[in-house]
Amino acid sequence: MLQIFDTVRRIGIETVLPVRRFFYKKSNGKLSKTFFSEAAFHTDIRSDVRIIKKQEDAVFLAKCNPDGSISDRDFVILSTTDLHLEGHKPEKDAQSIQMLTRQIAEVKPDLVIFTGDVIQTAHQHMDAAQFADMMEKIGVYWVYVYGNHEAREVKSNYKKFLYDNLMSRPHCLCLFGKEDLFGYGNFAVHIMNSNDSLSQSLYFFDSGRDIEESGRRDEGLSDDVTGYDFLKKNQIQWYKNHVRSIEKAYGKTKSMQYFHIPLPEYEEVFTQAENKTFVPSGKAEIKYGSQHEGIGCAPYNSGMFAAIKELGSTQAVFCGHDHVNDFCALYEGVYLVYNQPGGYATYNLDGYNGIPCAEKDLQFGVTVTTVRKDGGIDIQQRLNNIYL
Ligand SMILES: [Fe+2]
Repeated sequence: MLQIFDTVRRIGIETVLPVRRFFYKKSNGKLSKTFFSEAAFHTDIRSDVRIIKKQEDAVFLAKCNPDGSISDRDFVILSTTDLHLEGHKPEKDAQSIQMLTRQIAEVKPDLVIFTGDVIQTAHQHMDAAQFADMMEKIGVYWVYVYGNHEAREVKSNYKKFLYDNLMSRPHCLCLFGKEDLFGYGNFAVHIMNSNDSLSQSLYFFDSGRDIEESGRRDEGLSDDVTGYDFLKKNQIQWYKNHVRSIEKAYGKTKSMQYFHIPLPEYEEVFTQAENKTFVPSGKAEIKYGSQHEGIGCAPYNSGMFAAIKELGSTQAVFCGHDHVNDFCALYEGVYLVYNQPGGYATYNLDGYNGIPCAEKDLQFGVTVTTVRKDGGIDIQQRLNNIYL
């Protein structure tokens, strides 16, 4: 029954999209509400990245030379988050898309990663289809993990279909991941070297929405534990198993993680002073950025950071969710990073805590990570204010 419903919905979207596109063109932009992608800076950057192989929960990628052989050149990842394409401020959504696509055109990354809260319009499936179309026109490989605003339910057909909608595009690397794990989009992307080793593994997770009864029950938590969700035991166990199996096959491999809701360890980087501002705690080495709001993590630590420390593979964790925190800090040997947010329709520093902020000082932008053949990484923020 559900499959019939999905088929009908898919046919509906595929039929309605061209019709609405026709009326959009006729309306001279007045119908921009669900057509943010029309604002995009569509530069086809023609990636020289190739998919080498695919498994149920992993994709193996490589950067290639013109003759098709694997290259060991640096692999560049552009990541961003919280575009909050909501539809009620079309001119702001257009600005978010223009800035994003301009950054992609200039950085020319090998992979683009979105860490959630990207598409949350009333016509979410329609807009996801257009967003995917836009990324395909650019021609770069891309990954999308769910934020709390896309994840309307823990594990539902609605959520699965939305992900399937993205996954059907040739340059989208997303995978559902194993069915028995929490949520959708728990998978890995491995970047291959020419000598059959890996320069890096990227691990993606669905970090959920709010803590639900099922999550409390599985962790033995009382009913009064509420708030933003946490990574579940089955996701952490999958990560451990996957890292171990990769190291068995390819040797010691460095890795990075990407998901939406920050780990509780992000709270260790800054501490709140008496005047309510956040100042460095002294426990972490801050590479760049600052904290302006409380860390929007779960009130419960399910142990992902402990797993990272135990395995010694992951050297950086990237999240989104908090729009005015943008630090990159080395804490206990692991970089805790906020992807630079890109959503002009949602809150940022302007007017935050009643303090006005000039456009040039807003924290919108992208994060650029360069991965070297030996697994070393360099993480940089690239603010949109360079275009003002
Ligand atoms: Fe969020």
